[in-house]
Amino acid sequence: MVPDAEEIIELFRHIPVDPAWSFAECGPRQTSKLTHGYHRYPAKFIPQLVEQLFDLYLDGQNPPHVNDLFMGSGTTIACAIARGCRASGTDINHAAELITRAKATPIEPAYLTERVQAVDMDLLALDASRTMPLWPPTQALECQVPQDNLDRIAFWFDAETRDELGYILGRITAEPDARVRDFLKCCFSHILKTVSCWDMGSTKPTRDRQKNPKRPLAAFRSHLKRMMRGNRSLWKTVPPAVRADLDSYLNIQRSDARTQPVPDASVDLQITSSPYVTSYEYADLHQLTTLWLAPDTARNLREYRREFIGTATKRLDQLPMPGHIAHHIAQEMEAQDPRMAAEIRAYFADMQECFVETARILKPGARCCYVIGNTTLKGVDILNAQAFAEGLQLAGLELERVIKREIPVKILPTVRDAATGRFASCDKADARAYPTEFIVVGRKPVTSNQ
Ligand SMILES: C[S@@+](CC[C@H](N)C(=O)[O-])C[C@H]1O[C@@H](n2cnc3c(N)ncnc32)[C@H](O)[C@@H]1O
Repeated sequence: MVPDAEEIIELFRHIPVDPAWSFAECGPRQTSKLTHGYHRYPAKFIPQLVEQLFDLYLDGQNPPHVNDLFMGSGTTIACAIARGCRASGTDINHAAELITRAKATPIEPAYLTERVQAVDMDLLALDASRTMPLWPPTQALECQVPQDNLDRIAFWFDAETRDELGYILGRITAEPDARVRDFLKCCFSHILKTVSCWDMGSTKPTRDRQKNPKRPLAAFRSHLKRMMRGNRSLWKTVPPAVRADLDSYLNIQRSDARTQPVPDASVDLQITSSPYVTSYEYADLHQLTTLWLAPDTARNLREYRREFIGTATKRLDQLPMPGHIAHHIAQEMEAQDPRMAAEIRAYFADMQECFVETARILKPGARCCYVIGNTTLKGVDILNAQAFAEGLQLAGLELERVIKREIPVKILPTVRDAATGRFASCDKADARAYPTEFIVVGRKPVTSNQ
């Protein structure tokens, strides 16, 4: 039986912060170990959190099946492959699928070095040709700038940078091995913000007119070196049986969280962190990657945005609220901002469908761990974690445990802009957003008939 909303609220009031889950002692070296430094990503969680949940909840299944329905930069998936698990998951974001695939694919280091050296030679020749009458290069290199998006590319990149990127992408496309190609594309995607006039300190797409961006070739070659080191440690960590048959261990795709590419009752552990309501617009934040690497989607950014849960750009219908807590939050917001109240309704209705999908794919007795924080928007307490605890139970799961953890400030922005509710930089602080967060652990009943 689902406890009533009051009971859940009361339960959360008494949960102390558990210092064992803050990982305050971990610096960037540890949090970006293995392939976790391949690509920056908003609100990515640290591998230590995933590994500690593995230690706690993976017991003896051989090999266990781990799922993440909101992969983001693939922390859960890469950790799972590193541990020899089967890993499945989805994300609606093109960038997320690319990053996750690259981060979870160990490539034999000597072979990768050889492939990357071949790319490097061509790019060095390209670089040398810049100061000679050979520029633009006449050899086989093709400059691949997506022609339909030239205006938007010109908004973010100067003409020289655009052409240099075009040649790098042309060389990447010529790479015959798909795994190496994804590795190179992930590197390409990572440097796009660095080499554009994108304001790196902003959580919104903003131009920084004072910025002196790095040159693409230098940035690409330097980040490749870092990624090669990451691949080498991943290769050493992943069990040989997984390396030899990666396709049967890694099952990820770009799709909606509500349509997981996995059979009923097949997952041993799900670890995920969902999007938040009206916080990051992932479609906007990764638009440079979409412009270059998914140009067809970039042509229709408006439709693409609407596929994201938590977006402020969704078509808003009057949706029935799944639980009392979600309903109450939306009602409170109604008095402050009816438009935001509608966004909140859409968000919790979408999340409820995700909880149902979680219940479908978990094995009886298996657990899901939703990492989620609460916040305040326009003076209204947005009790996401409590609403998730209720929603998971409405989907047929038992609430097994709630862990409260402190988030080291460097990992997440902790303030929001009062007018828009979106994350703001610290100098505009008017409300703290996620100084602590919760890991809501649900368990599928052993006797479940789902
Ligand atoms: C908080 S991030 C996940 C971060 C991830 N845990 C990591 O370590 O990088 C939430 C993710 O949900 C994804 N998302 C939003 N709407 C989605 C949908 N309808 N289906 C699947 N993924 C979605 C976003 O693209 C984003 O990558």
